[in-house]
Amino acid sequence: MLSKQFFFTLMTAAGLAAASDASDVHQLKTDNFDEFIKSNDLVLAEFYAPWCGHCKALAPEYETAATELKKKNIALVKVDCTEESDLCQKHGVEGYPTLKVFRGSLDNPSPYSGQRKHDSIVSYMTKQSLPAVSVLTKDTIDAFKTSDKVVVVAYFNADDKASNETFSKIANTHRDDYLFGAISDASVVEAAKVKAPGVIVYRNFDEPETVYEGAFEVDAITSFVKTTAIPLIGEVGPETYAGYMSAGIPLAYVFVEGDEQKAKFVTGLKNLAAKHKGKINFATIDAVAFGAHAQNLNLEQKWPAFAIQKTEKNEKFPFDQTKELTLEAIEEFSNDFAEGKLKPSIKSEPIPETQGPVYTIVAHNYEEIVMDEEKDVLVEFYAHWCGHCKALAPKYEELGALYFNNPDFAKKVTIAKVDATLNDVPDEIQGFPTIKLFRAGKKSEPVDYQGARTVEDFVKFIKEQGTHSVDATDALANKDTPAESAGKAAPAASEAAEEESTASASTEAAAEETKHDEL
Ligand SMILES: *[C@@H]1O[C@H](CO)[C@@H](O)[C@H](O)[C@H]1NC(C)=O
Repeated sequence: MLSKQFFFTLMTAAGLAAASDASDVHQLKTDNFDEFIKSNDLVLAEFYAPWCGHCKALAPEYETAATELKKKNIALVKVDCTEESDLCQKHGVEGYPTLKVFRGSLDNPSPYSGQRKHDSIVSYMTKQSLPAVSVLTKDTIDAFKTSDKVVVVAYFNADDKASNETFSKIANTHRDDYLFGAISDASVVEAAKVKAPGVIVYRNFDEPETVYEGAFEVDAITSFVKTTAIPLIGEVGPETYAGYMSAGIPLAYVFVEGDEQKAKFVTGLKNLAAKHKGKINFATIDAVAFGAHAQNLNLEQKWPAFAIQKTEKNEKFPFDQTKELTLEAIEEFSNDFAEGKLKPSIKSEPIPETQGPVYTIVAHNYEEIVMDEEKDVLVEFYAHWCGHCKALAPKYEELGALYFNNPDFAKKVTIAKVDATLNDVPDEIQGFPTIKLFRAGKKSEPVDYQGARTVEDFVKFIKEQGTHSVDATDALANKDTPAESAGKAAPAASEAAEEESTASASTEAAAEETKHDEL
């Protein structure tokens, strides 16, 4: 063991230059994939496409995890699906990246369900390599307690078969989520802080040890473990955002810059978070990576910053950024919020003086235009930086004109758009563009538009889904011919120019789009 490690160190030192460009992630192809999987006990495989943003974000995390896991004989591989399309199809890959865990066989891989961060990958794959419950001894238990973020250890007597079985059941169900160990060594069980049979959850955050001495039953222990595993003050990120949004309680965000600032707030706000537990979730958010999210909360990108969001109605309560953000200020603000003393902030562009074929909605006229019970209103929720939205704009104008220019249609149908980054809207918008039809007489149940972004398909959708069934097919057919021939006549050069301008679109906007996309 020692000599092996020594050898490893030597190798690393000697081969530093080579090692830095040699990746520990194995790039596999159709002709070597099967053999590699069969000859390795545990493999994490990533199926990716070079252009995919989430894959690019994962790449450095994946590299770091591969280097770490190599020491444990766990291999990380990747397959470029733009080159090995048949192989990817055979493995049912439908989106990028797809991550699967193989156990020495091509059959029954399981989906990787951890987060896409290096420490999560290492932790998840390490759990995969261990039995569901690690049997501990007095020599191994101490190291085990600190070997993951959440470690669950059962203490029971050697002859207590029932507790052993109960604990195995829990571990088998949740082995991907937490690390489980059990000990029946009499000297350890007797000296433990818990009366056998009992459980202690060890965490690397909040209280390091939490004891469970209730009934030794699957449901009771499972719910104890789940509650204990959630930190009092968590972190908002791509992997946790959806969970917070669907938690059904308001989310209080602290935008922090750097670990030091984060630690200050995490420690300083613990009591406040405990006081409001179950009523307000408190979390930090990395301002360096996700600062753009501040504008969704009507905050400027100035750190640290604080806001509470009522997630169900998307109401925002930003903390006044002209004041200093102290722990006391957050406490007072949060208490006022909990007592219903604060009013949500409403962000709106000015109401436009005139309207064109596509109505411009802002927060202040949203109700009047969208909720007009007489009309079918198609609304595009867009962001000014979003490339897909820009591509849609001319088609959407064309669509708007079809209804706007026909007095009979115009009475029944409105085509509208709203920049949802500059205006507060009641709808929860997950990505841009989001398009919804608010039907006359049925405003509380908008229909999401899922079709292709072509004028024909929008027209069909409005006819089929709209309360008034307005059919603009003929109007479209009559104007289509000249428009299309004009399009065809356009010289290839201008098409190429257009493509180029899309590709060279400001990288800042592109980066911002990726971030929004991820959160
Ligand atoms: C639980 O039971 C299994 C199977 O009998 C045994 O191998 C294991 O050592 C027991 N666990 C402990 C902590 O004694």
